Amino acid sequence: MRVLGIETSCDETGVALYEGGKGLIAHQLYSQTDLHARYGGVVPELASRDHVRKLLPMIRSVLAAGQCRTQDLDGIAFTLGPGLIGALLVGAALGRSLAWSLGIPAIGVHHMEGHLLAPLLESPAPDFPFIALLVSGGHTQLVWVEGIGRYQRLGESLDDAAGEAFDKTAKILGLPYPGGPALAALAERGDPQRYRFPRPMTDRPGLDFSFSGLKTYVRTCLEKELANRRDPEATKADIARAFEEAVVDTLAIKCRRAVRQQHCSRLVLAGGVSANRRLRQRMKTLLAAEGVQVFYPQPQFCTDNGAMIAFAGWQRLTAGQVDPPIFAPKARWDLESLPPVKCSP
Ligand code: KG4
Ligand code: ZN
Repeated sequence: MRVLGIETSCDETGVALYEGGKGLIAHQLYSQTDLHARYGGVVPELASRDHVRKLLPMIRSVLAAGQCRTQDLDGIAFTLGPGLIGALLVGAALGRSLAWSLGIPAIGVHHMEGHLLAPLLESPAPDFPFIALLVSGGHTQLVWVEGIGRYQRLGESLDDAAGEAFDKTAKILGLPYPGGPALAALAERGDPQRYRFPRPMTDRPGLDFSFSGLKTYVRTCLEKELANRRDPEATKADIARAFEEAVVDTLAIKCRRAVRQQHCSRLVLAGGVSANRRLRQRMKTLLAAEGVQVFYPQPQFCTDNGAMIAFAGWQRLTAGQVDPPIFAPKARWDLESLPPVKCSP
């Protein structure tokens, strides 16, 4: 089955073609970073309009790259939520109506399921069950995954998501949007010994997170150091490093707790923050000591992309799941409410 995947949940237009037996045939990504940069964050209306501009030409281009005509498509998958409602509408409207006009099945994909399954595009892919740490701009969740659509939330952030914490902290440090990668780059130059920030909620039982206090910690520390006339550039790099260490350490501690609790030897890292080099390294070394194998997508499939939507949609479509010819994008959508599907052969 050959599936066209469409992602338009936020500020990236992603399109991909996935086929059973062949894998990923073609994919393209357009990031709206330049469009939103001057506003310091995503402007929803501009995002929707840009998806309208980019989506159709990108679909044509991906089909051409995959030497595929629209008549050769067997199904269409589009992100139905969660995300910005106007942005979601663009991909859902185009995806659903294209499928209807071609007389082929369509499915609305949960964006976080896309992230969660993205490591299965890699080789070796993890077997079920596994624990997934989903760390994106809007979500931080630990999920027990027994199969596709068989998700149980073990823990989540009570306030800011990990990516959101990176983005807000980057803003405090005067870094440009998007903040996460910029902060990670600045942290590379930082001295890890100068500051030690708290590891929130690691001193009490449970698998929930809280990152909003860290940004306040950063703001207070920066103001104090600047008032004392410390070198601002070195100070910002050292603070960035201490912040990154604190987030990475906190995530790693909770993941170790989760694998022990579930007696599980596989952990999957996914979502935009899983592109963070230090997080990938720390997770691997800490969990290797527990006999746990860590899986993550290649960096280009950690952040939003069409490949993960094509793949997740293919899984559900090949299992016979189809959406009716209507679409109702969801700004919020509980991952645990998804129906389970049988694994594809
Ligand atoms: O999954 P994603 O592309 O979009 C959402 O679904 O939210 O995640 C975006 C988030 C942003 O908060 C971004 O700052 C963060 O992932 N991010 C990073 C890195 N690359 C992206 N955070 C830390 N280090 C990175 N290298
Ligand atoms: Zn995402």
